[in-house]
Amino acid sequence: MIVGGVQKTTLQIQVFEQIRAMIIDGRLRAGSPLPATRELSAQMGISRNTAILAYERLSAEGYIYTRPHVGTFVAAEIPEETFFTSIGETEPGEHGHDPAHGADFTTRLMACSRVHSLRNPHRKRLTVDFWVGRPDPGSFPVKAWSKHIWKRLQRSGTGLTEYGDPAGFIELRQAISDHLGPARGIIADPEQIIIVGGCQDGFNLISRLLIEPGDTVVVENPCYQGAAFVLEGFGGVLHPVAVDKEGIDVASLPEAPGALVYVTPSHQYPMGVTMTLPRRLALLSWANRNDAYIIEDDYDSDFRFTGSPLTALKGLDRGNRVLYMGTFSKCMGPGLRLGFLVLPPHLADPARRMKALMNNGHSWLEQAAMADFMLEGGYRRHLRRVRQIYLERRDALLASLEQHFGPCNVSGEDAGMHLVWSIAEGLPDASEIERRALENGIGVYAFFSGAALHFGPARADQRHLVLGYAALTPREIKAGISRLASVLRAATPAGSRPLRPEQIGGRS
Ligand SMILES: Cc1ncc(COP(=O)(O)O)c(C=O)c1O
Repeated sequence: MIVGGVQKTTLQIQVFEQIRAMIIDGRLRAGSPLPATRELSAQMGISRNTAILAYERLSAEGYIYTRPHVGTFVAAEIPEETFFTSIGETEPGEHGHDPAHGADFTTRLMACSRVHSLRNPHRKRLTVDFWVGRPDPGSFPVKAWSKHIWKRLQRSGTGLTEYGDPAGFIELRQAISDHLGPARGIIADPEQIIIVGGCQDGFNLISRLLIEPGDTVVVENPCYQGAAFVLEGFGGVLHPVAVDKEGIDVASLPEAPGALVYVTPSHQYPMGVTMTLPRRLALLSWANRNDAYIIEDDYDSDFRFTGSPLTALKGLDRGNRVLYMGTFSKCMGPGLRLGFLVLPPHLADPARRMKALMNNGHSWLEQAAMADFMLEGGYRRHLRRVRQIYLERRDALLASLEQHFGPCNVSGEDAGMHLVWSIAEGLPDASEIERRALENGIGVYAFFSGAALHFGPARADQRHLVLGYAALTPREIKAGISRLASVLRAATPAGSRPLRPEQIGGRS
């Protein structure tokens, strides 16, 4: 009996692991139907019970889902813990699960089904999608933009027929320099500015310039996937350092001469905290001491709702340690693929040469239109207008969360376009909420699906959801959160008693 039991368990695990491997490496694609358990048992020569148990485990771990009377299907998302534990079977090291020592990079990259800019695979069937980082489509300044594009086209000269400066169109670099002084406290010569195709291009450029395989690269924990994967992809050994209410815990930084540090001080991604001034100064002094460079990703600093923005790290940088990164993806739209770096003067020319090798710079027409939009004051007015719209949406989200879930623990609400909701006890884990919400047409995201990377025990990040609100109207936000509340009212975390509606703010 015991022997039989062991064999049965082994067989069930084998079936589970075979199917799981096919899902992870893409042989079984998201949404594809799986055979019924009766069919599977006949196909594999196993008992039906073994097939049922294997499916149950696959379902419990989020690889598959069953639609009653319809069938069993591969889930749209590979569970997050797969990324660190299932593929590489990595043991947590000093800093938890270190992705630099897990499965090979490509395998893990493929497991990461939602690097930020990949289209949300659920988008079409969602009624309300709190997908992060999307600006309001209705706020793009179409009229002004068409005017500037058209004007530039009419007097394009050689703008479209000659190679431009790979560092970018000089008038745009001048306009950015003019903007950064009052907006971020950064005094930069246009020669220090390199136009890039958004932050993502900036990460690649900086990595090519500064990373040698094996170099220490400090990242925030949790951090932005889009940066971490590139930094690691160039051979950087990621060293995660925890983020608390004041930003990255500078006291825990390693003494590592020549290290590179990636931070998001204005609105930490994903937690949304703002790095305090003492921490900023401590980080700069650490960088000076270690001869280290700091990448300051200032992706959504244009939107601050409470208090005045702190001067950027770059504005405080007396030792030329900071590589500042700005983007037009949030304040205008990611479709433009325009961003910029402000570099220490000694790195500007190497970066310009590297940019020439990478892609010879970016579309002249968009750069020229953006320069005109900034120089004639339209950009400043646009920011003011959009900030107000996002503030209303942020308020609608906070009010809806409170209405349906009672007082909520949120962070990052003072700025940006998303906030993090720390899920109350009694509610299921983030991935489970995400799954149930998606099934019901609502997009809310656990860290991993929301382009964040958390290093540490697989479940430690499961109590947070990231909610982007900028692209949703207040009415959509209210409807989405109300729907989410009814979905969760029906949710029962595995192994626990059914939730009472009043536990999540509903009526019994
Ligand atoms: C932390 C962070 N940095 C940068 C970006 C912007 O990237 P890009 O400028 O490449 O569009 C994002 C996008 O959401 C982000 O979340």
